[in-house]
Amino acid sequence: MIKVTIDDIEIEVEEGTTILNAARMIGGDVVPPAMCYYSALPGTGGKCRTCLVEVAAGSTKDPRPMPKLMVSCSTQVMDGMIVKNKTSERVIENRAGVVEFLLANHPLDCPVCDQAGECDLQNLGFENGKEATRYEEERRTFEPIDIGDHIKLNMNRCILCYRCVHVANQLTDQRVHGALHRGDHTEISTYIEKAIDNDFSGNMIDVCPVGALTDRTARFKSRVWFLNPMNATCECTKCSGKAVVWMFGKEVYKVTTRQDKYGEVEQVDGKPQWLCDECRFDKKDVSKWTIEGARHIDRHSVISQGHYEKPNPLDNKPKNIK
Ligand code: SF4
Ligand code: FES
Repeated sequence: MIKVTIDDIEIEVEEGTTILNAARMIGGDVVPPAMCYYSALPGTGGKCRTCLVEVAAGSTKDPRPMPKLMVSCSTQVMDGMIVKNKTSERVIENRAGVVEFLLANHPLDCPVCDQAGECDLQNLGFENGKEATRYEEERRTFEPIDIGDHIKLNMNRCILCYRCVHVANQLTDQRVHGALHRGDHTEISTYIEKAIDNDFSGNMIDVCPVGALTDRTARFKSRVWFLNPMNATCECTKCSGKAVVWMFGKEVYKVTTRQDKYGEVEQVDGKPQWLCDECRFDKKDVSKWTIEGARHIDRHSVISQGHYEKPNPLDNKPKNIK
């Protein structure tokens, strides 16, 4: 075990732990935001730079500060390392700059975006961004396209985090999409005339931190804060069958994976609980699910403003169970 101090809090972690994961062990404000790292998808991280931290002392052996800010999702801790996240002015200023870059081409279309209310970029901008944009150039624009029967791609909103590419590589039997071109011309696209219809590909929608990939079976049915997220299970031979069903009254509007407080898929005994496409897209009948109860959404989000977890004084049940 080695000792690391993050924002004046000391913790002992195993060798090989990244600064981000050490911070997550402490929890709270100490944890840097992460828009591209996703713990259940090995190989992710290092793309978005939102997780930058200041390393004020490299280690006990070599206590010199690291001159540049470091990406916490891919920098491993050293014994005696001192890290600053929210206590560093440089980090706060640079993170605002990173948000500005991420928003350089991202349209400010939250009022019409289906991801609004559960968008990591919206939350990141609110918590770390600047009040106004300095961007005067023309943003690059793309027409929204259907990439398969179930998924809509709004490339305008993509921040090129590559999480969806890792889902296709690691979960589906064939990857038929990826990043085309280079530099600021890079875009996510399917191979010519291919559509994404491999089983488990729906998990791309959940890992996408913005509204670039959305569920065509649920788009625009309701704003997310009008829905009641419920833990539900079903009999499934392909996946865990453990999901969150988003209900409006007795109707299931959409089905997603269960996510932790970092918006990442919940893991049981180290096994990510991914959903197969049948459970996600085809089981919109509530009789197909056993509803366990309200899902606590432990994130900075308007979803919790729905107060769906409060008991209904009339029947003493959560108000969304009829
Ligand atoms: S489509 Fe979404 S998940 Fe894929 S690279 Fe873009 S932002 Fe990331
Ligand atoms: S989360 Fe570390 S670079 Fe994106």
